[in-house]
Amino acid sequence: MTEGSTTGMDEINKTRDILRDKFEKLEDKKQILKAVELRKLYDGIRNAPPEDRAAYGQAVNSLKLDVQTWVEQSQEADEEISPIDITAPWGVNSAADRRPQFLPAEQGSQHPLTTEINYICDIFQRMGFVVEESREIDDDFHMFESLNFPEDHPARDDYDTFMTDEGLIAPAHTSTMQNRVMQKYKANLDKGEPIAAVVPDRVFRNEDLDATHEHTFYQIEGVYVSKNVNVGNLIATLSTYMSEYYGQQLKTKLQPFYFPFTEPSFEFAIERPDVLRKDNSEEQKWLELGGCGMIHPNVMRSAGLDPEVYTGFAFGFGVERMVMMKHGIEDVRHFESANLKFLRQFS
Ligand code: DAH
Repeated sequence: MTEGSTTGMDEINKTRDILRDKFEKLEDKKQILKAVELRKLYDGIRNAPPEDRAAYGQAVNSLKLDVQTWVEQSQEADEEISPIDITAPWGVNSAADRRPQFLPAEQGSQHPLTTEINYICDIFQRMGFVVEESREIDDDFHMFESLNFPEDHPARDDYDTFMTDEGLIAPAHTSTMQNRVMQKYKANLDKGEPIAAVVPDRVFRNEDLDATHEHTFYQIEGVYVSKNVNVGNLIATLSTYMSEYYGQQLKTKLQPFYFPFTEPSFEFAIERPDVLRKDNSEEQKWLELGGCGMIHPNVMRSAGLDPEVYTGFAFGFGVERMVMMKHGIEDVRHFESANLKFLRQFS
C-alpha cells in the first residue's frame, strides 16, 4: 500500500470518530448524513491518486453505510418509546425533572371497596369461578332484551337509570353480562365443564340519595350453567361464599320474588352475623343481600344455549351493602366521600 493511501485511511478513521461524536450530540440524527466531514471525504475520492482511488472509495462508502446504520438504529429506538398516556397529567415526553412529583405511595392506601372486591373475587376464584368485567355503558339488548324483559314491560321501571340521546344505557345492574358470559364460555359445556363466572362492577341508578342508596354503586353478578343444576346447588354456593366472606357458618334464607330473567326467582338473605346484631329480635335475625334464581329458558336461548339440555343459576348482590354489614358502616355515602378519616380506618 502506498503512503498516500495509509494517510487516507487515517483520515477516514479520524473522521469516523468526529462523526460519531457529532452524531451523539445531534437532536435530529438524520442530519449527520449531511455532515461536511462526510462530504469532504467524498471530494477526497476524486483527488486520491488513481492507484488508491478504489480502496479509498470503498472505505469511504463503508463509513457512509455505518453512519446510515447509526441513523436507522436511532430511529428504531425512537419507535420503541412507549405509547403516549393521554390521561397523564403532564407531557409524557417532557424531561423527568419537569414532571410533577407523585405523593409517596406509603402515604396512600387502596380504597376499601377495591380491597373488598379483590377479596370477594378471591373467594369465588377458589370456588372455581372466573372473574369478568362489566361495562359502564351498554345497550338495550344486554340491559333488557337478552334478560327476558319484553318491550314496554313494567318490570323495566325497576331499573331506572341514565340513557344517552343515542339510546346507550348506563347499566343499572351487572346482569347485563349474563348473555356475554354465557356466549364467551359456551365451549366449556362441550368439554363437560360448567360455565362459572362472577362479574363485579359499577352500576348506576336514578335514585334519591340516602344512607343506603347511591346513584353509583357496585354489584357482583354470578352465573353458573351446567347439566342438572338445581336450587340446592344455588343455596350451597351462596352459603359457602357468605360463610367464607363473613368468617362464620351462616344460615341462608330464600324467599320468592320476581325477576324476569330467573324462574323461580328469590330474594336472598343470610342470618345476620353476631357482630352485626343489635338485639335478639326476629327482625334483626336476617340480612337481605340480593336476588337470585334459576336462569330463565329465554335467557339461555338468547345466548344460544339449549335450556332442554342445560340449566343454571344466577345471583346478584350489592357490594357496598355486603361490606357495610361486615364492617358496621352506617352510611353508603362514606365510600365516595374522600373522607380521609373514614378511609384511613381501612389502610
Ligand atoms: N339484577 C338484579 C338487580 O339488580 C339482581 C339479580 C336478581 C341478579 C336475580 C341475578 C338474579 O343474577 O338471578 O336487582
